[in-house]
Amino acid sequence: MFHELTIREVRAETPDSVAISFDVPEALDKFFAWVPGQYLTLRAIVEDQDIRRSYSIASLPGKPLTVGVKHVEGGAFSSFAQSLKPGDRIQVMPPEGRFTCRGATRVVLIAAGSGITPMVAMAADALAQGAEVTLVYGNRNTGSIMFRDALDGLKDRYVDRFTMIHILSREPQDVALLNGRITGNKLAALAQAGAVDLAGADGIFICGPGDMIDDVALMLDTKGIPKDHVHFERFFQAGEVQRAPRSAQAEAAAVHGVTVEVVLDGTRRQFKVEADDDNVVAAAERQGLELPYSCKGGMCCTCRCKVAEGSAEMAVNYSLEPWELEAGFTLACQARPTSDRLVLDFDAA
Ligand code: FES
Repeated sequence: MFHELTIREVRAETPDSVAISFDVPEALDKFFAWVPGQYLTLRAIVEDQDIRRSYSIASLPGKPLTVGVKHVEGGAFSSFAQSLKPGDRIQVMPPEGRFTCRGATRVVLIAAGSGITPMVAMAADALAQGAEVTLVYGNRNTGSIMFRDALDGLKDRYVDRFTMIHILSREPQDVALLNGRITGNKLAALAQAGAVDLAGADGIFICGPGDMIDDVALMLDTKGIPKDHVHFERFFQAGEVQRAPRSAQAEAAAVHGVTVEVVLDGTRRQFKVEADDDNVVAAAERQGLELPYSCKGGMCCTCRCKVAEGSAEMAVNYSLEPWELEAGFTLACQARPTSDRLVLDFDAA
């Protein structure tokens, strides 16, 4: 699952963020092919703890594989990442994720802070394919704008097809609408003013904190924007996480003992979920089997798998989209079996 890569370059993007590029040996090329919008999971042992974090890829295929890492106050991995230097080696999981705007021709990108990371490559890719792109990007001030040179370069290159709107919360701009934070109301007002065509977009992509995503998604829903036009990538969830209580069915199954079979990289393995196991990933870990995971919080989708047999419920889901739920996907880090036998396919696309 993880491969050790050498860090090629660490470049300061803003005072509290860095762009980290990796050298990918030719032998690993086939594992590390990516589509703009996907992410990498990095792993490190920090103070004896196995820590994993997912970071969006900011570069285009064919360029050095690069992620953007913003320092998070008290964040063990982001603090560790700030100390990385060229030549260091680090464990990296191959690219994953389905947050991609391939195929859309009228694209609206909405990002706050480090939520810009996947969108730099998505914007460049969509523009290169001939799409019209509008980016609404929220920051505290101009000094905290990540990938500014890359974005300005796109603006210069695609003058007619790329619109960039900066919203700043702590640096007054002449136009009142451009001050403050990105909210559903602000987006609606920008659309009303003709700055963003939400109704005409065939792909709206939102990336950043969970509360911003929820607020914007709600506004889009009330405006009648089709749900399948709206996609999001959640970087963290503000406020308290609301976990669904374990249902009577899940409780009964756990007390009885559930046999779980996983299909991973073409191999089948079995283990038990018992009453004290909070979820499938935890149960597997307890029995020495490592399943793919990163955030363990229902946000990153690294643990996404398909229920091939039996049934399961989730404590939280911040990342699976409605079509994935309908197709039977679940998040193993949140999954509690509700049947005596559960088969999870991690290889399902
Ligand atoms: S590990 Fe991130 S959603 Fe499960």
